[in-house]
Amino acid sequence: MKIVTTISEMQSLSNDLRMKGKRIGVVPTMGYLHEGHLSLIRIARRHADVVVTTIFVNPTQFGTNEDFSRYPRDLERDKRLASSAGTDFLFVPETQEIYPRTYFTYVNVEELTAVLEGKSRPTHFRGVTTIVTKLFNITKPHVAVFGQKDAQQVAVIKQMVTDLHFDIEIVVAPIIREQDGLAMSSRNVYLSSTERADSAVLSQSLQRAQELIEQGERNSSVLMTEISNMILRKPSAQIDYISIADAITLRECTVLGTGMKILILLAVRFGATRLIDNALLTI
Ligand code: PAJ
Repeated sequence: MKIVTTISEMQSLSNDLRMKGKRIGVVPTMGYLHEGHLSLIRIARRHADVVVTTIFVNPTQFGTNEDFSRYPRDLERDKRLASSAGTDFLFVPETQEIYPRTYFTYVNVEELTAVLEGKSRPTHFRGVTTIVTKLFNITKPHVAVFGQKDAQQVAVIKQMVTDLHFDIEIVVAPIIREQDGLAMSSRNVYLSSTERADSAVLSQSLQRAQELIEQGERNSSVLMTEISNMILRKPSAQIDYISIADAITLRECTVLGTGMKILILLAVRFGATRLIDNALLTI
């Protein structure tokens, strides 16, 4: 696995690969890799000849009171993991390489970013779409892999790719979970042991809602009340949002109609740590 730190070297490597007819797959990450990230790299291998994994803790997607400076980092460990999962090129730029002192351009997807995560984190998606655009222009991929763990991020990136005519296939990878169901996340390391135990309620409540839907429940508010009751039984939990929404528009649905593709989305704080989870289902 080759480590690349400059934009110019990465672009020239990608140009050479394209000239040789190689299909390039990219997996954008913020590092502190876990099985979720590694599954994306393995999936990228199946869709491409060459896999570029990127590691960049992107300052523009963090709000002023968020965890940018304390976001977990371990590059040496990441190098070993990325390589063992099948990365050919690891692109790890410095912050100044991506955002030099004179930097003024942002990419913004509207509508989809005004709800859910966007409501709680108003500048977050502008940062995500800006860095993803940059990473696309730097790594020049044919295919890019993103995780369903960040369901709204997937919807926003797919919309951006369509709207701005990026000639890139977006592959979405399933959520990888711990034994007790907690979705893997670099932020799980922040949880105390009681918070960690409480956090299993996220996937449990999603599963319970799916059972109720299978038994015929079609009223969103009944489902949301059930989810909310389960979560609030956990002492460290504070609900940010629970939403049942159309999977493409992210608009809330009050009644679930047959054939609809919906997302049940949760954001919950356990102590100071905010976690998200979701379930994607067809009614
Ligand atoms: P990060 O949180 O590091 O996640 C990188 C990719 O891994 C994302 O596509 C995310 O959805 C996926 N991922 C994380 N946990 C997962 C899990 N448990 N199962 C499956 N996939 C999982 O998402 C970002 O970084 C950033 O916003 C980024 C896209 C890199 C832009 O900065």
